[in-house]
Amino acid sequence: MKITIFDTLPSTNDYCEAREFDEDTAIIAREQTGGKGTKGRSFSSPLGGVYLSLVRYYPCKAENSFSLMIASCMAVVKTLEFYGVHADIKWPNDVFVSGKKICGILIKNSFEGENVKKSITGIGVNVNNDIPQNLADIAISLKSVVGEVDVEDFYKRLIGNLYADYSVDEYRSRNIVLGKDKREITVIRNGESRKAVAEDIAPDGSLVLKGGERLFYGEVTIRF
Ligand code: BTN
Repeated sequence: MKITIFDTLPSTNDYCEAREFDEDTAIIAREQTGGKGTKGRSFSSPLGGVYLSLVRYYPCKAENSFSLMIASCMAVVKTLEFYGVHADIKWPNDVFVSGKKICGILIKNSFEGENVKKSITGIGVNVNNDIPQNLADIAISLKSVVGEVDVEDFYKRLIGNLYADYSVDEYRSRNIVLGKDKREITVIRNGESRKAVAEDIAPDGSLVLKGGERLFYGEVTIRF
């Protein structure tokens, strides 16, 4: 595989979407000026963070595409564990440390027949960057937990971990939205919010609510 590092890019995901590559390729930027988040939001991407997009061709069947999200979240969790930090997952695409977001993931897939043809896994991790005061209640960086780390070492470990196999059980057991103690969540869809208890995550990635209703990622936002 190939790794290319840029000092700055508008968005590593946009860069990968606009190009084709001969092999699996990781595009990394030391900072992004137009980082993209989910649901059309922007993603703050100052120097010191890790902003990485991994392009893979034909990584899996379309029906198994949630395995790419599982692998991405678990890869971040395992990388943080290497630095001695315990992390949790917030379904479907966020990684949390001490109740605050440390990483967001944005996956863009294109399909051909029954297969994922090209998958772009975009991962943004607060590593050595400072968190602005206005976000201090909801976001955290690795630096504030263990001090500065070598970012090159971090993304090499992260890329290695992205290629490991993970089960939906591992992803499930790390997930803070599941109501092990009947914890209530707030489900927000199209601006409307309601309370619910999530009981399971199905292999297709949907969140199964008490009562059997299934929520599909991309359609809803979960708050506590
Ligand atoms: C989210 O939390 O909403 C998802 C954020 C995803 C951010 C990453 S950083 C690398 C890649 N390039 C982007 O523009 N976005 C993703």
